[in-house]
Amino acid sequence: MNSMADQNSTFETRKRDHIRIALDSRAQSMTSSGLESIQLVHEALPDLNFNEINLASEFHGQSLRAPFFISSMTAGHERGREINLALARLASDRGLIMGVGSQRRELEDSSAASEWKEVRKHSPNAVLLANIGIAQAIQFPLDKIQALVENLGAAGLFIHLNPLQECLQPEGTPHFRGSLQALEKIARALHVPVVVKETGCGFSQDTLRRLKNINIAAVDVSGLGGTHWGRVETQRIPGDDFRSQSGEVFNEWGTTTLQSMLNAQEVDVNYQLWASGGVRHGLDVAKLIALGAQFVGLAKPWLQAAVSPQADAELHRLADRLEFELKTALFCTGVRTPQDLRTQRRWTWQNA
Ligand code: FNR
Repeated sequence: MNSMADQNSTFETRKRDHIRIALDSRAQSMTSSGLESIQLVHEALPDLNFNEINLASEFHGQSLRAPFFISSMTAGHERGREINLALARLASDRGLIMGVGSQRRELEDSSAASEWKEVRKHSPNAVLLANIGIAQAIQFPLDKIQALVENLGAAGLFIHLNPLQECLQPEGTPHFRGSLQALEKIARALHVPVVVKETGCGFSQDTLRRLKNINIAAVDVSGLGGTHWGRVETQRIPGDDFRSQSGEVFNEWGTTTLQSMLNAQEVDVNYQLWASGGVRHGLDVAKLIALGAQFVGLAKPWLQAAVSPQADAELHRLADRLEFELKTALFCTGVRTPQDLRTQRRWTWQNA
């Protein structure tokens, strides 16, 4: 059995590797999100002014300025600390939801909670969502998970599903037996809403159907089309390990973000739909809202901005750009709010 110090050092190395590799273009799937095949219907005669467009959104009583969010990323190492402080500042300044990175370490070692206490201290008003993996949701008792949410002052909890990553990661824990029951138990007992998310491989109709009626608030489909964890983990495996070849075999595995959203429409889900996976601009955000998403997440673009030397300026620039592109898409579709875009069918297939 490794000592706690060994485990912490392996953990920190892994988290640093993830950041480095995720920023490399080889971590992006070659398969696209599919959103280029969707077109919003152009309205040449919108009956509104650009400045009437209102992106204000709401998450369980919390007011937000826009329906896009910072998807969960990193935690538990020195570089992550700076990144998370910058992301939380942005979330607070701009009224955006921020999903924090996996808090697994905090479940295993309570001293790791200090990282998030610091983030919370500097950004008391940020709307933060806690994050754990399904393997921890199965393994840990409810009071530990509740404590994690409370220590962060979180408005909700993301539970991430990542079967492919757990298989390929040398230190992975592909132990998912009892996962649906664990989700239901947590969603029924926790004091905050639970959002179930993938991490870039999307959802089938069958899985979305199984997630109905277990009291979760939302599913973030996080589909294939952007950061791909098969690709990220493959780059961490030494070349002489047979799993580096196995990683290549699975490097386009998953259901695209578009197909995952269409799957949700077929299933007629009774929880909110959120979307992410390869979202790179405000027009992608608009298309996903038109397809039914309440909130749309981005991970890699925020990370890219957060590691730049002028992190705060770059993060605000990205938020400005996303807002402008989303508003332009709404204006040119002739609708005033994301809610209007979601409820009036304003999309078609590109070549239809
Ligand atoms: C992630 N993602 C992630 N998701 C999660 O639920 N918990 C986590 O700890 C992490 N960690 C993480 C680290 C890094 C460096 C990245 C880039 C991403 C997955 C993320 O939330 C998202 O689902 C995918 O990255 C797809 O979004 P993009 O990157 O294509 O916009």
